[in-house]
Amino acid sequence: MLVQQLSRVLSEAPTILPCVGINVRHYKDDGDVERWVELINLAFRNGKPAMRCWTEPDFRQRIMAHPDWTPWNLFLAHNKHHQLVGSVSLVFRQSPDGPHPALHLLAVRPDARRLGIARMLVAMLESAAWQRGYREIVLETHAGWKEAAQFYAAVGYQLRAPTM
Ligand SMILES: CC(C)(COP(=O)(O)OP(=O)(O)OC[C@H]1O[C@@H](n2cnc3c(N)ncnc32)[C@H](O)[C@@H]1OP(=O)(O)O)[C@@H](O)C(=O)NCCC(=O)NCCS
Repeated sequence: MLVQQLSRVLSEAPTILPCVGINVRHYKDDGDVERWVELINLAFRNGKPAMRCWTEPDFRQRIMAHPDWTPWNLFLAHNKHHQLVGSVSLVFRQSPDGPHPALHLLAVRPDARRLGIARMLVAMLESAAWQRGYREIVLETHAGWKEAAQFYAAVGYQLRAPTM
């Protein structure tokens, strides 16, 4: 199966390891939309299979118009030059046993990889979910996205039965 569902059970409050020179903030204003679209298209452009290109209207219709949308759920990592270098979004997947916090659209610029930025973003997302009382994070990825597979294995995500 090409689309894979992974999850991680949180047994304790996540530890956030800071990255030198990287600051994370939440979505602030319209200016973030253009930068986010550029980041996502750059990060996923060599994925096999390729992800469709995102546009600013996509962001507004598929992310901001979602009932769960709040600026607090979009994490944006910036370097010391104020360049957006990474992002992840916390969404909620509905299931028969209630909503599950899900990690969505994790991306790091190619020239900023292997610095621990994704690890930090994921820990921040997990921490936000933990503080709201959730103890499991789910996500969907693609078996062909090898970097993602290696990353998720490194930070403790495992294949999950497809019950979402
Ligand atoms: C997957 C991705 C988000 C990882 O971002 P990153 O900031 O480079 O990851 P980190 O630096 O936090 O890596 C943490 C650990 O994950 C593992 N890891 C990450 N990328 C890896 C790679 N390409 N090969 C092997 N291991 C990798 C390593 O164990 C790494 O620790 P180390 O560098 O100390 O060895 C990034 O490669 C990316 O944006 N890929 C394209 C978009 C994508 O696939 N997103 C996920 C879609 S579901």
